[in-house]
Amino acid sequence: MARLLSVFSILSALSFTVAAPSPSKLHAITLGYRDIFELSTHQSKRAGQFTLPPLPFAYDALRPIIETEIMRIHHDKHHKNYVTNLNAALANQTAAIETKNIPTLVELQEKVRFNGGGHINHSLFWKSLAPYGSKATDITISAPSLRAAIEKQWGSLPSFMNDFNNTLMNIEGSGWGWLTTTQPEGKLSIISTKNQDPVTDAVPLFGVDMWEHAYYLQYQNNKASYASGIWKVINWQGAEARYRNGLEDLKL
Ligand SMILES: [Fe+2]
Repeated sequence: MARLLSVFSILSALSFTVAAPSPSKLHAITLGYRDIFELSTHQSKRAGQFTLPPLPFAYDALRPIIETEIMRIHHDKHHKNYVTNLNAALANQTAAIETKNIPTLVELQEKVRFNGGGHINHSLFWKSLAPYGSKATDITISAPSLRAAIEKQWGSLPSFMNDFNNTLMNIEGSGWGWLTTTQPEGKLSIISTKNQDPVTDAVPLFGVDMWEHAYYLQYQNNKASYASGIWKVINWQGAEARYRNGLEDLKL
């Protein structure tokens, strides 16, 4: 029973509602993990229905920072696999619940966590990026509120970017770097998560994928060049929107 309770404690931790920043009001947004939690515990009829979202730009739109072939493989194969494996794990969970097979349910929790995290993280990653040279990549034009908050907290934009890149470079193995904000104080934080663990206790404004599949074909082992170049394609317009309005654009 203790083990079972532990499993449901983990699931409860993954089912989260965050309060999004807004100049005028606090706005509660329920994330995709809430859906995953419901699917995995209540045999929802929606099981197996997560789908691969289309890229919000052309495969070659991030060149020369991220080459076309990387984007094709990353989106069409890696992200697709997370979605496929998540749906399979949820379908297997439904079957295991029907047969009251608790060992299988316990075994499947890690697959839901890994593939569910992979799905929600990549869905945000595509929204964290914008075409090279586009207006959205200009923080001064596209993210005045967020830029002011960053400069207030870090002293300057270069200082913030330096701290963020240090966090990216300190990730051991595979993981993600994030700029997040918390409520109600609106404090900004730079954090990293391991493997495909998503941000669960704050609003992620943008994330950078530091798995080798995100850069190795182009940068090989020089991940510092990937990390420094990524600023040229960060979607500050989207980050500003999440800073002001929360995660309304991240419902899966
Ligand atoms: Fe990835």
